[in-house]
Amino acid sequence: MNEKYIEFRNITKRFDAVTALDNISLSIPQGCFMTLLGPSGCGKTTLMRQLAGFSEPDSGDIYLNGRRVNGLPPYKRGTPLVFQEYALFPHMTVYENISYGLRLKKTERPALDESVARMLETFNLKGMETRFPRQLSGGQQQRVAFARALIMGQEVLLLDEPLSNLDAKLRVEVREELRQIQKSLGITVIYVTHDQDEALSMSDQIAVMKLGRIMQVGSPWEIYFRPANLFVADFVGAVNLLPVTVTGAGGEGLEAVWHDQRITVPGVSGFSPGEAALFMLRPESIVIRAKAPSGETSRSGGKLSGEVTFSSFLGRYIRYWVKCGETDGKELTLVIDDANPGINGPISGQVELTLDTRKLHVLKAEA
Ligand SMILES: Nc1ncnc2c1ncn2[C@@H]1O[C@H](COP(=O)(O)OP(=O)(O)O)[C@@H](O)[C@H]1O
Ligand SMILES: [Mg+2]
Repeated sequence: MNEKYIEFRNITKRFDAVTALDNISLSIPQGCFMTLLGPSGCGKTTLMRQLAGFSEPDSGDIYLNGRRVNGLPPYKRGTPLVFQEYALFPHMTVYENISYGLRLKKTERPALDESVARMLETFNLKGMETRFPRQLSGGQQQRVAFARALIMGQEVLLLDEPLSNLDAKLRVEVREELRQIQKSLGITVIYVTHDQDEALSMSDQIAVMKLGRIMQVGSPWEIYFRPANLFVADFVGAVNLLPVTVTGAGGEGLEAVWHDQRITVPGVSGFSPGEAALFMLRPESIVIRAKAPSGETSRSGGKLSGEVTFSSFLGRYIRYWVKCGETDGKELTLVIDDANPGINGPISGQVELTLDTRKLHVLKAEA
């Protein structure tokens, strides 16, 4: 497999005062579902447009399967781009929309029919050939757009927030379908979204972007549990940050004192004693329990006590906000998700918390 099937090398793109892409380098393996994730305006669309050939970078090179594609027009790149407004031709039927590219190339029947039939089958559109876009649901229209993009046998598909126009339930369905189709066709997909759930659930790899730069590239697991910095930690989900001071760094890993407790995090390096750091924990990596009436919470093994200030029932889990006293004059409130609540509804009042120290991640405290 080609690990550098698509390669951006030092891509910079400016629009007047705005640096939309700031020296971006990124390699995408063949067959990978790569997601560009980041807030609005961080440069995701601009990066896709450079690859698709709708815009040229100020500097840097783009390689597709070993070939430099800078300067080539879009139709010579084989990288169809599907947008949020997937712009089907309204006056054409599903058959005519899907077959559009092949008809431009003067492909004759029966080859044309065969190709369309294959796409109808792949995208679960059989029986809809003669309908017009207005006679289709949003999800069906989206699938016609995918089919139209892939009928020429392209091996790369670029998708720019393609599900934004669909309602929440349909979005989840289409993203599962899309992932299965991508795997079965073996194509390479670059997918743009600002939705972290979408990114985590679909991708092989995620590139998190901020202000024209790539902050981190990694698997959904790495991005979620081992974010490279505060921005990534915060952008991909709710997060608890506990300010600590490093007391030891060496073979055993990192040791820090937190709430009078000495906590060791194995396998962490790059910190020195005396340095300020942040323990990062996702909301589901803390266990919450009602405090026993006479119980003293032992201050060891990542345990502490607190008081529930708010809870929110989200069906699959309950989210709690728990006040845990002060650290350095700052109030510390932790967010905790309980995915397996009891049968009596949310707990309240005094609680005991246990941090799952195996899932602790340590971040540099940024000024
Ligand atoms: N054609 C353009 N002219 C001027 N500024 C642009 C143009 N396209 C994008 N930008 C700017 O570049 C930045 C990145 O935009 P974009 O790639 O569309 O972000 P995203 O897709 O991540 O929301 C933004 O600040 C945007 O305003
Ligand atoms: Mg965009």
